[in-house]
Formats: sequence, C-alpha cells, structure tokens
Amino acid sequence: MIISPSVLSCDFGNIERETKMLESSSADWIHIDVMDGNFVPNISFGFPVLKAIKKHSNKVLDVHLMISNPDVYIDDFVNSGADILTVHYEACPHLHRTIQLIKSKGVKAGIALNPHTPVNVLDEIITDVDLVLIMSVNPGFGGQKFIESSVQKVSQLKKLIDARNLDVIIEIDGGVNLETGKKLAEAGASALVAGSFVFNSDSPTQTIERLKQL
Ligand code: DX5
Ligand code: ZN
Repeated sequence: MIISPSVLSCDFGNIERETKMLESSSADWIHIDVMDGNFVPNISFGFPVLKAIKKHSNKVLDVHLMISNPDVYIDDFVNSGADILTVHYEACPHLHRTIQLIKSKGVKAGIALNPHTPVNVLDEIITDVDLVLIMSVNPGFGGQKFIESSVQKVSQLKKLIDARNLDVIIEIDGGVNLETGKKLAEAGASALVAGSFVFNSDSPTQTIERLKQL
C-alpha cells in the first residue's frame, strides 16, 4: 500500500520539522492539498509552501489541485517540485487537454472525483491517466467523516481498470484511518491519503507504518 500523508493537517509553524519527520517515516509520498477558495470553499497554500517542502524532502510530491482552471498553473507546479499532478474532473471542461498538458511536462497525471461523481465518467479517459483519486469526503477540509459509499466506488474503479488491463493507481482521500483503510484495501485501493489521522496521533511515524501494513 502506498501511503501519502496530507500536510494539510501538519503544524505549518514547523514545516521543516514536519517534512523531516515524514522523510524519516515509511510514507511513500507526501500529499499536498492546494485550494483556491473558488473550486472549494477554503484556501490552503500554493507554490512557496510546495517549494519549502521540496527543499527538505526526496519523497514523491503528490499534489492535489482543488482549483478552477488548473491549466494555467501546471508549469508553476512542476517548477515548484510536483511529481504527480491531480486535477478535478469537475474543474476541467477540457479534461483530455489538461491531462495531456500535465504528461507533456514529464510528471504523472491524475484525475480526482468528487463524492457525487460516478466512476463511469472516466470511460473515455482512463487509458490516458496514471492515477485516479476517489474523494471519500467533500473536498475543502481535513478531519471530515468518511463517506461509506466510497468503498463501492473503489471496487467499480478496480473493475474498470482490470477489464482493460491497465496500470492505474487507485488513491483515496478523506476520512482514512485503520478501519476505513482496511475496507479500502480490500476493495482494491493502492494508495491512501491520511491527514488528521496521522498528524493528530501520538506518533505520526508509527501511524504511517500501521497504515502501510494494511
Ligand atoms: C480534503 C483534502 C484531504 C485532507 C484529508 O479536501 O483533499 O487530502 O487533507 O484529511 P483527512 O485525512 O483528515 O480526512
Ligand atoms: Zn487531498
């Protein structure tokens, strides 16, 4: 299982220390939530924070763009250190173009689906992507309750990917803990994002290790 702790729940006053903690942990990726106050009702952070994390980490930077019109910022995100760029299906009217643009920059391209968006909208684009991110909460905030029907969406997505013999990562984001993580692993998830469960625990590194064993 790939584990991608979300720094949205970390202590930003100590970003260097938090990044080094993740660096020393068994986390595979670092999940970076960029919010624009337009696509989602919250504003998080942008390029300077991404660069600060990159400075202290060699992990894969897994950047989740919760922003409208992401195309115009792709170059800036790549130059700031992103290794994976995931855009929202709901934010991209010309999704095929956006995905090709991301791939042309030499980074991995992902599509995120909001809880209300069915998996079958990916039918015509699944062959073009490296990753699909299933949102198991409404994007915008950490610490929300897991939406149970997301487990079913993971199974559907796995079927779609297997039926075409593709190698696409299934990542889940929102309300992940050991209990929901276990169900998601059984349904076919290959990457788990966890924010509050990791950073609110007594030992984030141990929590990451326990998620990794799922
Ligand atoms: C929500 C973000 C998540 C968030 C998850 O919009 O995309 O990555 O940090 O937080 P938890 O794990 O606390 O639900
Ligand atoms: Zn996220």
